[in-house]
Amino acid sequence: MKTWITATFSPTGSTRAVAQAIAATREQAHIDLLKPISPRIVTADTPLLAVVPVYGGRVPAIAIERLSRLQGQGGAAIAVVVYGNRAYEDALLELKNTLTDCGFRVIAAAAFIAEHSIARSIATGRPHEQDKQTATEFTATVDAKLARPAAEQTLVHVPGNDPLKPLPQMPATPIVTDACGGCGSCARECPMQAIPAENPRTTDASRCILCMRCVSICPRQARILPPPLLAGMTARLQACAAEPRLPELFV
Ligand SMILES: Cc1cc2nc3c(=O)[nH]c(=O)nc-3n(C[C@H](O)[C@H](O)[C@H](O)COP(=O)(O)O)c2cc1C
Ligand code: SF4
Ligand code: SF4
Repeated sequence: MKTWITATFSPTGSTRAVAQAIAATREQAHIDLLKPISPRIVTADTPLLAVVPVYGGRVPAIAIERLSRLQGQGGAAIAVVVYGNRAYEDALLELKNTLTDCGFRVIAAAAFIAEHSIARSIATGRPHEQDKQTATEFTATVDAKLARPAAEQTLVHVPGNDPLKPLPQMPATPIVTDACGGCGSCARECPMQAIPAENPRTTDASRCILCMRCVSICPRQARILPPPLLAGMTARLQACAAEPRLPELFV
């Protein structure tokens, strides 16, 4: 059994949870795409598992930008997107194309479901035990494919449109309530450097991608979405994303 390098962009943790369910004991190193990374070669004998969330049917641009710093040298890659039970649209194709452009052979792919990081009442608690069981089965199939000679490891086809749908516009940024104690955690953890360290009660709207990391990590729950915006988004998602979806596997 080969060990893998994993790369994830996971502002609120569920993408990382899916990656850990898939990689299990195979993870030999983890590349955290929440932080800037230096150009890095992934040698051909080490498979890469890349797992990213879906934002507006696309992969967050910053995750693509950081992933593009990896060089695959013809090695195998597994492309996985994680979405909040609405739809993943063009995200899996975008991830596959990015990895291919980096020099990887994408021999397996999947779309998993996780709790919606904005509307937490959608897909609450996912990935659940059944999702993790599916992840284990996916890994076993991938292991079997990786055990074959490289020439016999077929490339996967995944759904998606080319050209890709336009990148989404974010409707707002989180706001900060009087509960803020000025600890600065949100400024340190924001993957976009959108929160100034000297004034963490503000947000640079031109940088914020509404990833919800600051909202989820604030120890005082002082960062929140504007309540009318959250109510409107939750109502719209309840209408189109309430029916539980199943993971899709491509091997
Ligand atoms: C800005 C934003 C846009 C999103 N767009 C979609 C989407 O288009 N379709 C969907 O099903 N889920 C969508 N989601 C939900 C996330 O894909 C899902 O919750 C994911 O698991 C979050 O990953 P994380 O926990 O690693 O941050 C979106 C979430 C955010 C924050
Ligand atoms: S993490 Fe919360 S309490 Fe700390 S500075 Fe940010 S908003 Fe304020
Ligand atoms: S400020 Fe925006 S980009 Fe930064 S952590 Fe908060 S939601 Fe994410």
